[in-house]
Amino acid sequence: MRMYDIIEKKRDGHSLTQEEIQFFIEGYTNNEIPDYQASALLMAIYFQDMTQEERANLTTSMVESGDQIDLSAISGIKVDKHSTGGVGDTTTLILAPLVASVGVPVAKMSGRGLGHTGGTIDKLEAVPGFHVEITNDEFIELVNQNKVAVVGQSGNLTPADKKIYGLRDVTATVNSIPLIASSIMSKKIASGADGIVLDVKTGAGAFMKEIEEAKNLANAMVSIGNQVGRNTMAVISDMSQPLGNAIGNALEVKEAIDTLQGRGPEDLTELCLTLGSQMVVLADKADNIEEARLKLETNLTNGKALEQFKIFLESQGGDASVADSPETLPQSTYKIELPAKQSGTIAKIIADDIGYSAMMLGAGRATKDSQIDLAVGIVLHKKIGDSVQEGESLLTIHANQDAVEDVKEKLYASIDISNTDVEAPTLVYDMIT
Ligand code: URA
Ligand code: CA
Repeated sequence: MRMYDIIEKKRDGHSLTQEEIQFFIEGYTNNEIPDYQASALLMAIYFQDMTQEERANLTTSMVESGDQIDLSAISGIKVDKHSTGGVGDTTTLILAPLVASVGVPVAKMSGRGLGHTGGTIDKLEAVPGFHVEITNDEFIELVNQNKVAVVGQSGNLTPADKKIYGLRDVTATVNSIPLIASSIMSKKIASGADGIVLDVKTGAGAFMKEIEEAKNLANAMVSIGNQVGRNTMAVISDMSQPLGNAIGNALEVKEAIDTLQGRGPEDLTELCLTLGSQMVVLADKADNIEEARLKLETNLTNGKALEQFKIFLESQGGDASVADSPETLPQSTYKIELPAKQSGTIAKIIADDIGYSAMMLGAGRATKDSQIDLAVGIVLHKKIGDSVQEGESLLTIHANQDAVEDVKEKLYASIDISNTDVEAPTLVYDMIT
């Protein structure tokens, strides 16, 4: 088999066989195929697309390029959730203990944040003592014992995806549905879950700015998952504004604690219940969505979800008392209000820009090796559709520096106040099964 022929075949719009796809993935992962040939093939895929079968084969070859996590020692149906990334997306911190509290085993592999979106592990490390450095055996034992554990991503998970993603980033081939879908799904499948709930974000803060694009990506991922034998569904949700009110690591832990007590922001709570009930049904712990949702709502109000969060934190070295006294989480020195310059209705809170503002305060990493400040971030007091009076605080900046003029300027530029009525955006646009 020759890489030249594979490039030519895709360039001319034909479908590649499973053997051809595997030849490319193995050869590229082992450094036998050079970057220039891989780039040419990626560009051909970008223009010619791939059939469902090719997409599933590409995903499977990427899964097989590295370690595959075996969760078979955990009893029950393991269900994972994946979000395509957003600003202030605190859902994992809430969903992991919440669905575990109704008996769903949650074996979560998570990453750190890069750029303007935060990572679950960074957020959890805001809890004093919490760590994810546990062995695979400990991880599995913890899930069997407590129904929930979080571990860092294995270094050798889907090496083909790492290499290809790096190449796509510099060859203008990131934005391709078959390439994005196979990249995301290969990581989820290699992580070992039996069922996968996808939260595909759309809007200004998301990868897919338009609903139609988000639906196409969701459809592509759901078909890949189902083709390779993992029960998969997707929710299309709004990321035109940040989710919930808090953006920043310790601030989001506090927001998660509030939500686990049934006192969280409305949008964040609703999205957790929507995603969570799908997870519960996939895990066969309820017969239908209504029953699943009722179980989750009950545990948000009777203290069981919060109790599960404490057990989870403690089992990984964390100080569980933060759940009762969140003021012991890292706190910033300065708390600076941002007063509205005019009265009206909030029309826009551009999620990307809010994420970048939090990063300017030190909440996120500019590069892989940057240190992050767990205490800093932003807490919104207004969301799209809310009315505001001139001088009223739009948000609080939690900073460890008192000079935040550039951050304030960026925040003012990313929030629009209108003189006419504006409706709150739809939170869940669609579900794809
Ligand atoms: N996230 C991924 O993991 N892969 C992509 O290709 C795009 C976003
Ligand atoms: Ca949030």
